[in-house]
Amino acid sequence: MPTNRYWTVSGKPLGGWPEADTFTLHEAEPPEPGPGQALTRTIYVSLDPYQWGYKKRGVEAPGAPCHARTVAQVVTSRMGGFAPGDLVFNTNGWAEYGLMGEGVARPSYMIPRKLDPAQGRISQAVGVLGMLGLTAYAGMVLMADPKPGETAVVSAASGGVGQIAGQLARLRGARVVGIAGREAKCRFVVDELGFDACVSHLSPTMPADLRAACPAGIDVYFENVGGAVFDAVLPLFNPGARMTICGLIASYGDAGGDARAALMKRGEAVFKERGVTVRDLFVGDFVEGHHDAFLAEVAPQVASGAIKYREDIRQGIESVPACFAEMLRGDNFGKMLVQVGADPTL
Ligand SMILES: NC(=O)c1ccc[n+]([C@@H]2O[C@H](COP(=O)([O-])OP(=O)(O)OC[C@H]3O[C@@H](n4cnc5c(N)ncnc54)[C@H](OP(=O)(O)O)[C@@H]3O)[C@@H](O)[C@H]2O)c1
Repeated sequence: MPTNRYWTVSGKPLGGWPEADTFTLHEAEPPEPGPGQALTRTIYVSLDPYQWGYKKRGVEAPGAPCHARTVAQVVTSRMGGFAPGDLVFNTNGWAEYGLMGEGVARPSYMIPRKLDPAQGRISQAVGVLGMLGLTAYAGMVLMADPKPGETAVVSAASGGVGQIAGQLARLRGARVVGIAGREAKCRFVVDELGFDACVSHLSPTMPADLRAACPAGIDVYFENVGGAVFDAVLPLFNPGARMTICGLIASYGDAGGDARAALMKRGEAVFKERGVTVRDLFVGDFVEGHHDAFLAEVAPQVASGAIKYREDIRQGIESVPACFAEMLRGDNFGKMLVQVGADPTL
């Protein structure tokens, strides 16, 4: 049997952002599947901002591998419908091997499923063809519903969710403006993804840059960031604008406080005066009712190139915590994944 290497939270108090000693690497034999379970080997580990919240809130059981959505391959199975060799979406976490099936702890909406490589690259099952694509679809199409000619703004525009949210708005005829970090990301958002403009939140003139990029104001705002980015968007809302709060990553390193409540307070007067509708997004609410419709619409668009999707795929289980920290501070360029096992489809 091969060795299973996996990461846990070290147990020291988790402050602002992850540090070098926040996580510990372990080695053990892979777990034995019980009745109704399958052993799977991880191929891709998805690194996402929400995982930091899980760790800070202590959602993971002590000593358990850090949670993550994964793409994996079945090694041995005692689980109906899954056979050795099957490629699956599941939640092995920051680990080379993991169990799925009966009694295996996972968020209720992260349901293991078989992957069809004909539908798209298997790595995309944790990105554009999975929960991140559904997040963008739910927040942009179902909640904000951009109309032709309207101006839609997306923050963290080159990231896992932002890339898709902006392209979905563009495909619905909106004028789309991205907000991203470094120059190369802003160029990618315009030149590759086809946004109409992109401004950098690293520029000292960002509020004025955004105003210039949105001469007709903002009708739709897909919020991934909060903080100073939200403050620049706020004065530009048009009457009847719609804002989807997808995430507030600028506050994920805060020691405490309620970032959403603080944002709502800062926005209160403008929201009221201009009739801005603010909706909170939780992707788990959309999996059951909308995943299939979303996939039917978006998978062919990804396959045809009508929707482009950039991944930032790193290598090796040892590198997972460093890659996670890089993603949180914006040093990813596209959806962040770590490949920890061979991908048989490549
Ligand atoms: N509501 C839901 O159900 C749901 C589901 C999935 C994701 N989310 C949320 O969606 C957002 C995007 O997630 P993702 O997976 O697509 O991550 P991502 O955008 O691929 O990576 C995070 C990006 O956030 C940007 N960022 C980090 N700190 C920032 C700051 N202080 N100011 C401005 N930008 C900052 C960085 O991009 P730049 O280099 O461009 O700054 C970084 O690359 C997150 O807030 C996440 O929590 C919510």
